[in-house]
Amino acid sequence: MEQYVIKGGKPLSGEVEIGGAKNAALAIIAAAIMTDETVIIDNLPNVRDVNVMLGAMEDIGVHIERINEHRVKVNATTIGRLSVDYEYIKKIRASYYLLGALLGKYKKAEVALPGGCDIGSRPIDLHVKGFRSLGAEVDLSYGLISVNAKRLIGKHIYMDKVSVGATINIMMAATLAEGKTIIENAAKEPHVVDVANFLNSMGANIRGAGTDVIRIQGVSKLHGTEYSVIPDQIEAGTFMFAAATTKGDILVKNVIPKHLEATTAKLIDAGCQVVEYDDAVRVIGRNKLMATQVTTLPYPGFPTDMQPQMTVVLALADGVSTVNESIFENRFKYVDELARMGANIQVEGNIAIIRGVEKYTGARVSAPDLRAGAALVIAGLGAEGITIVDDIYYIQRGYENFDEKLRGLGAVIERTDSEDQIEKFILKVS
Ligand code: EPZ
Repeated sequence: MEQYVIKGGKPLSGEVEIGGAKNAALAIIAAAIMTDETVIIDNLPNVRDVNVMLGAMEDIGVHIERINEHRVKVNATTIGRLSVDYEYIKKIRASYYLLGALLGKYKKAEVALPGGCDIGSRPIDLHVKGFRSLGAEVDLSYGLISVNAKRLIGKHIYMDKVSVGATINIMMAATLAEGKTIIENAAKEPHVVDVANFLNSMGANIRGAGTDVIRIQGVSKLHGTEYSVIPDQIEAGTFMFAAATTKGDILVKNVIPKHLEATTAKLIDAGCQVVEYDDAVRVIGRNKLMATQVTTLPYPGFPTDMQPQMTVVLALADGVSTVNESIFENRFKYVDELARMGANIQVEGNIAIIRGVEKYTGARVSAPDLRAGAALVIAGLGAEGITIVDDIYYIQRGYENFDEKLRGLGAVIERTDSEDQIEKFILKVS
């Protein structure tokens, strides 16, 4: 089991380059099997979830060629099976994108029920409702979801709740359905738009992605394409919060500032200075942080994936802040860990009431999920003394070279995999 060992207390400064968006990439690589022609995808983040998805695709016979760390060639003519029960696929939420993609192309698929980070109950009823509306039969048994359709026919689908995954999945299946599909109350996240752009570059006819009504005119087939994934707004935001927590000064490069507006606004509320450039943002932390109120909401609201990182900042702010988690019901599991570093946070239902403290003190904590894990690392970087973050497996699901990028900003952090190595690090930095 690996861990990060951190000597905190140093303001981070310098420049960091952001990679491709994990959550866009996961859907895009799945959608690449919807044509028999070759698809080249660029700016793929080299993170565990993406590699698991590529592994699962290879497992059913898709030809995957890694051109380099961030560029991959996909050709699905060699698909031999429409049943995805790859050992690891249940561990990633996005496995359900193979359902939408295979259903669209082959009108049939079977995928192991998705897992992912334990941040709430995470039902898939909206995906199921969408597939059924398009004419598919859906069966959930023996840990698998099976979908089957004689024909897929476009429909008017109203989403009872805004769901990124269900919007993308229905959009993929509807791309190769007969006639027109309208998705109302669709998710507007940048990765929904990116997947729509990708599909359109393959010959799909999707309009309105990025608004709450998406219109898809089905086409009979898709062709090959070459496409570059958008930058990861959550990775970018994580470094922005690192600047705020360590009172540093970080230029976060290769981002789309528009995608970061909610994060930027909250950092300004908390007293930080944020400068926007065409494709970069600079965050200058302040000695004194201010309390503020945050509610997570679907895009363009404040992202739930940035909630733990925001809490880490507010736990050091002057006064009482509240963070209201409105998307997932179980996303405060890291709060007990943060309390061990000195934070004063009380969770009542889906609201965290945060009374700012002067500083964090290093402790041994463990990452309960991907974003909370990254948030604990940031807290460690801002803490006095040594912090050890265990279970960094979660962090590696979605952050590429996290420790290396942080070291580039002056952080004293190392990845270790034994108590001996931890001891050595502590001796070295003491
Ligand atoms: C995506 O999950 C992301 N995952 C999550 O990223 C992110 O937190 C989430 O969107 C919200 O932005 C991937 O893209 C792989 P949802 P997803 O469907 O699609 C409810 C990260 O750290 N819902 O938008 O699974 C659901 O319970 C992660 O990278 C239903 O009720 O989320 C939640 O309350 C973790 N029925 C809300 O909708 C359904 O059928 C939004 O979930 C589907 C969802």
